[in-house]
Amino acid sequence: MVTLLWMGVSLLLLAQVGGALRNCHPGCRCEVESFGLFDSFSLTRVDCSGLGLGEAARPVPIPLDTAHLDLSSNAIRSLSAALLSGPGYTTLVSLDLSYNLIGAADADAFSRLRYLETLDLSNNALESLRDGCFAGLPLTEVDLSGNRLAELRLAVFSAKGQGGRPLSVDASGNQLTAVTRGAGGGAPELQSLTLAGNRLSAVPDALRGTGLRYLNLDANPVAEFGEGAFAGLGELTHLSLAGLEELRAVRPGAFRGLPNLQVLDLSGAPRLTELDPEVFGGLGALQELNLSRSGVASLPESILSHLPSLRSVTLGADVHCWKTQRQGQFHRQLGQAKSDQVLTCNVAAPAAVVL
Ligand SMILES: *[C@@H]1O[C@H](CO)[C@@H](O)[C@H](O)[C@H]1NC(C)=O
Repeated sequence: MVTLLWMGVSLLLLAQVGGALRNCHPGCRCEVESFGLFDSFSLTRVDCSGLGLGEAARPVPIPLDTAHLDLSSNAIRSLSAALLSGPGYTTLVSLDLSYNLIGAADADAFSRLRYLETLDLSNNALESLRDGCFAGLPLTEVDLSGNRLAELRLAVFSAKGQGGRPLSVDASGNQLTAVTRGAGGGAPELQSLTLAGNRLSAVPDALRGTGLRYLNLDANPVAEFGEGAFAGLGELTHLSLAGLEELRAVRPGAFRGLPNLQVLDLSGAPRLTELDPEVFGGLGALQELNLSRSGVASLPESILSHLPSLRSVTLGADVHCWKTQRQGQFHRQLGQAKSDQVLTCNVAAPAAVVL
């Protein structure tokens, strides 16, 4: 009785919290989400993860108004336009292909997904991406982490032979042309890119000139960031460079040209032992710096003159530092911001960290 009651309550909750379920392909779960005044808008979220689609060459049938499709964990090995087309696919806004075995994607594999904004290709076996593969897609968020990419070419985001050459023809005979927007012809809409856990030894040139705000290059075999390493990425607000085990040097001026950067994660770089204050030149908006578990045990106090917006630094195993006014000078210095600020850390013996 209690169990029955509980099931009843759970079903009720499901109906209210999640959207309504509807019929769909066996093994998939299709959920309708309604919103707007009088639920006037609805979209369908389709979860076909873990079905073992494997070598299937035909697309999974999905409802016409599908916005989000999850095809993760399906042992899919390669991507083609034939696999990602058909009713429902053209209007997809997000596609999850993570945790498959994808080692290859045809240049036109995504060409039918003209409204695709979010693409998750993480944890696959991609060694490269074909030129033009993301061309003309309004992608804002791409996750390519956990692959085997050693480079990312500019042509990945732009159509071959610019000038709107047709890439393919859709079912009704309409030519699908790749529209190249933005001066660089790159990925003008791209805001977030995760490339963690690949084989990149440098910042890919393909990213320069994009409007990227979030970039993650964690756990790649980068040995050094030279002067201007992030040039052309002036819109970045978050830069994650954690777990760079090979990283030995960050040269002065490496972060030049990042006036909007707020968060910089350089944690977990054991071979990085020194950072010249000039490394931080140009980071006028930086608020958070993470150097925990890196070889850098101390920072010269002069970094503060380069980092006027800095609020917190993490160092060593568990040392947190905050910017404060030097004691005793506080009143006298009111109105004279910055001149007497120091970093104060939560260490028992402050001498352990020379700031
Ligand atoms: C700094 O990095 C470490 C290791 O990557 C992480 O555990 C920690 O949460 C980070 N700290 C902050 C303040 O972001």
